Amino acid sequence: MTVDLRTRYLGLELRSPIVASASPLTGDATSARRLDEAGVGAIVLPSLFEEEILNDEIGLNKSLETGAGQFAEALEYFPTVDSLPGVGDRYLANLAAIKAASSVPVIASLNATSAGGWVRYAKLVQEAGADALELNLYRVAADPSKTAAEMDAADLDLIAKVRSSVTIPLAVKLSPYYSAFSNFAGEAVARGADGLVLFNRFYQPDLDLETLGVVNSLELSQPGELRLPLRWIAILRPQLGAKVSLAASSGVNTGTDVAKELLAGADVVMMTSALLRKGPGHVRTVEAELRAWMDSKEYESVAQLRGSASQATAANPSAFERANYMQTLHSWSSTEN
Ligand SMILES: Cc1cc2nc3c(=O)[nH]c(=O)nc-3n(C[C@H](O)[C@H](O)[C@H](O)COP(=O)(O)O)c2cc1C
Repeated sequence: MTVDLRTRYLGLELRSPIVASASPLTGDATSARRLDEAGVGAIVLPSLFEEEILNDEIGLNKSLETGAGQFAEALEYFPTVDSLPGVGDRYLANLAAIKAASSVPVIASLNATSAGGWVRYAKLVQEAGADALELNLYRVAADPSKTAAEMDAADLDLIAKVRSSVTIPLAVKLSPYYSAFSNFAGEAVARGADGLVLFNRFYQPDLDLETLGVVNSLELSQPGELRLPLRWIAILRPQLGAKVSLAASSGVNTGTDVAKELLAGADVVMMTSALLRKGPGHVRTVEAELRAWMDSKEYESVAQLRGSASQATAANPSAFERANYMQTLHSWSSTEN
């Protein structure tokens, strides 16, 4: 039996539900090409970070000011900030080049903390040819004067502003750290998100015991991490309805991992750590495993598979919520030790 892997994500027709999430692999033209050749359904570029743009502009302004003080008459020869190729321009040029060389949709990613310049960059990535935009919301709620409601409102405002500035589809990549996640997810959709990417992975700083300095070490994800998006996609799929796209991101390594996320209700399943460990060609292995599993269970298409074990359809719906907590604790057996 030939298994039909086509899926729809953010209104785009994809040949496969296996998508390469934002990472250095997707931002490099050669590895993006290899991901395409290996069969990914879409490519999400690494994020353009607000801080990068700000640092760039502050640095340029400083050097222009220094120049102005020392060589006033030479100032007219300085190019303006807007005309220098900065981080943003390089991002847009790279996006256009990867898009031109790709046979699959290319999704740009912006990591923003404030609305300001993002509206401009959202427009620019659209002009550069992005098929969709992923807005990556990454914040740490460390300010004790800000309530959860205020922080949520700021994020929702950002989503609405970016939404109204572009016509391409918009996905929002979220962290799991919202006080009332289902409510926030629904509000994000109400502000115009066409889809949600669950989840952004937070990197926790460590301490160096010799220098007492903070160590920022990036660890790739572990297989068990797929359960966090699995639960939330299963819960959100019936709540948000079939029109809202859901992407699972975290801990996906194998074809059966992909099958689980699709069963829970994901439209696409994203991979980064597994591809960084094993290379872009790993997409072929994952696709073959997915096909073999679907074939063995007589699923003909992703459409048939998707959501058939979400909370709406699962044999035990409460298992995705708190009811499972006690059973899970009680399932521990001392003989396993
Ligand atoms: C080296 C590296 C770079 C990443 N860069 C980005 C990024 O620029 N933007 C983003 O939204 N996520 C970024 N991520 C997060 C991944 O897209 C992904 O969401 C996360 O790694 C969880 O998926 P995984 O378990 O398949 O790795 C990065 C991850 C890694 C390991």
